[in-house]
Amino acid sequence: MPRRESPYAPPKTADDLRAEAVVRVTAVRDSFVTIEATGGHIMMNEVGYVTVAGDPPDDRGRRPELKAEVLRVRGREADMQVFESTQGVTVGDPVRLTGRMLSVSLGPGLLGKVFDGLQNPLASLARDHGFFLPRGMYPPPLDRAVKWQFTPSVGIGTRLLAGDTVGTVQEGRFPHKIMVPFDTIGPVQVTWIQEGPFSIDTVVARIAPVRADGTVAEAQERPVTLAQPWAVRRPLPDALLRSRRAERLYPDRPLTTTLRLIDTFFPIALGGTACIPGPFGAGKTVLQGLIARYSTADIVVIVACGERAGEVVETIEEFPQLRDPRTGGSLMDRTVIVCNTSSMPVAARESSIYTGITIGEYYRQMGYNTLVIADSTSRWAQAMRETSGRMEEIPGEEAFPAYLDSAIKSVYERAGVIRAPDGAVGSLTMIGTVSPAGGNFEEPVTQATLSTVKAFLGLSADRAYRRAYPAVDPLISWSRYRAQLAEWAAEALGPGWNARVDRLQHVLEEGDRIQQMMQVTGEEGVTLDDFVTFEKARLVDLVYLQQDAFDPVDVSMSLERQKKSFGLLADLVERDYRFADKDQARDAFTKLIAAYRNLNYTAPTAAEEPFDITAEALVARVTGTAPAEAA
Ligand SMILES: Nc1ncnc2c1ncn2[C@@H]1O[C@H](COP(=O)(O)OP(=O)(O)OP(=O)(O)O)[C@@H](O)[C@H]1O
Ligand SMILES: [Mg+2]
Repeated sequence: MPRRESPYAPPKTADDLRAEAVVRVTAVRDSFVTIEATGGHIMMNEVGYVTVAGDPPDDRGRRPELKAEVLRVRGREADMQVFESTQGVTVGDPVRLTGRMLSVSLGPGLLGKVFDGLQNPLASLARDHGFFLPRGMYPPPLDRAVKWQFTPSVGIGTRLLAGDTVGTVQEGRFPHKIMVPFDTIGPVQVTWIQEGPFSIDTVVARIAPVRADGTVAEAQERPVTLAQPWAVRRPLPDALLRSRRAERLYPDRPLTTTLRLIDTFFPIALGGTACIPGPFGAGKTVLQGLIARYSTADIVVIVACGERAGEVVETIEEFPQLRDPRTGGSLMDRTVIVCNTSSMPVAARESSIYTGITIGEYYRQMGYNTLVIADSTSRWAQAMRETSGRMEEIPGEEAFPAYLDSAIKSVYERAGVIRAPDGAVGSLTMIGTVSPAGGNFEEPVTQATLSTVKAFLGLSADRAYRRAYPAVDPLISWSRYRAQLAEWAAEALGPGWNARVDRLQHVLEEGDRIQQMMQVTGEEGVTLDDFVTFEKARLVDLVYLQQDAFDPVDVSMSLERQKKSFGLLADLVERDYRFADKDQARDAFTKLIAAYRNLNYTAPTAAEEPFDITAEALVARVTGTAPAEAA
């Protein structure tokens, strides 16, 4: 007989707990436990808690309960991956299965928070327990003390479907829709709803299923609170898409990053996918940070998975200090950080990317443009490899699991543009860095990512070494969105835009070819024409591709400014120059580069935009001739 739960009863002993267990541990291996159920059944991917029976109980008689996920079921037995150290777990320890998948809590209060991969809020934990979690502590992800002013948008009797809005709360500067739970099946009717300031777990409305004959099944009423759970491994709009209530749209608008090299040469669409592979120290994290900070996304989710602990701490400490260039407020107001370091258990690292994407999908569903950036997906793939290895699965290339490709695909596929049932259009853009060992892009994670994403920003060690930042190599990078956004570009940036970008990219390629030749033959080996082309390529690289992250003006260039600057640049590249010799050419271009850089560093005023200067006037300025006679 189980002992009666009484505040006066002595705490249960380890043996009591083990004797009562319906589901118990039968083996422990690293972060894995094998369990056996004497009653009920075990579900694939359900979450359970392993009680460390042998640990001393706390002052409320409780032992640590370690969160774990079922990864393989064999009849009454199953393998579970524990999200924490399994130290002290022994055979016979009880397991409590929840019947629920690994989930996140979606509701107001996500913005500005720092979570770990299991959505444990790190700031409050840090306050209470230092930066790292004590084992078996799972504080609620969303603050229950905060009151949100809920304004209903429907009344009693309104009929709704999954994903429909019942009302809103104001989260910072964002109206936050409270939606009918996304897994609701069939029509429901609002049977009760209230207005006022409520915490996230207060019932603000009740809904009941509507039967086929139109009557309401009051007995099956379901509460609606400001937050709802969602299983992280399941794309949030899946059911809505299947029932045709939501619709996937073609990404045909750009995410403006204000980084010239990306927006002009290798654009990323809102709702698109991009990857940034690069060798150690080439600038992946800095580049992603710039994108997170300056891009025109409404909401940014940063998934810092498994990089060096120090780097993650830097992100967490730096971001709240940063100003949002668009609002002047803190950048954290529109940011959610999900972080794990390599010192956290492997399973928690693996889940962080899903947690981040699910949060991104949630805000997309409200009609926001969300950006999810993951740094680095290689660490995530390594976590997957470790898990797979421990499960003794048949390994694929470089010991990664055979399903590496499909796992990477399934992550990037969650990006996209979605029209919600109420017509609101939102997007989720996904950008991941990849850190291939030795900078070798042939390795499986880079290759699998490249076959999935539609934009590739490859960093080169050589450019980083020369401090040519951002160190994206324009000769290996590509973006399929350049064609996909052509219609938009023609309208917003001018009819000849794409053709001009193509031409300048060609000049970069030619410049590289000529440079290689000169390395062999010396300058004398190339014609004056070729030498001028080489100088033109140098101009494009130095004044346009490279952008100074430390200059307050140059760090970020609006799209309107890029339009003007690129127009000037293209005019400079496409015009004819008549030089007497190579020295004269080199001298002119060096001066041109310096003058152009000055324009980059000069902020436009209401009265003047420095880039309004014509190519002829700029050439005349540096060569000291009047525009009409400029050579
Ligand atoms: N855009 C930039 N402007 C100026 N300096 C930069 C820029 N990008 C990178 N750097 C320099 O390069 C260093 C390394 O950059 P970063 O940490 O982003 O590289 P990483 O590719 O993320 O490295 P790791 O492989 O270790 O994660 C930075 O600390 C900084 O000094
Ligand atoms: Mg990095």
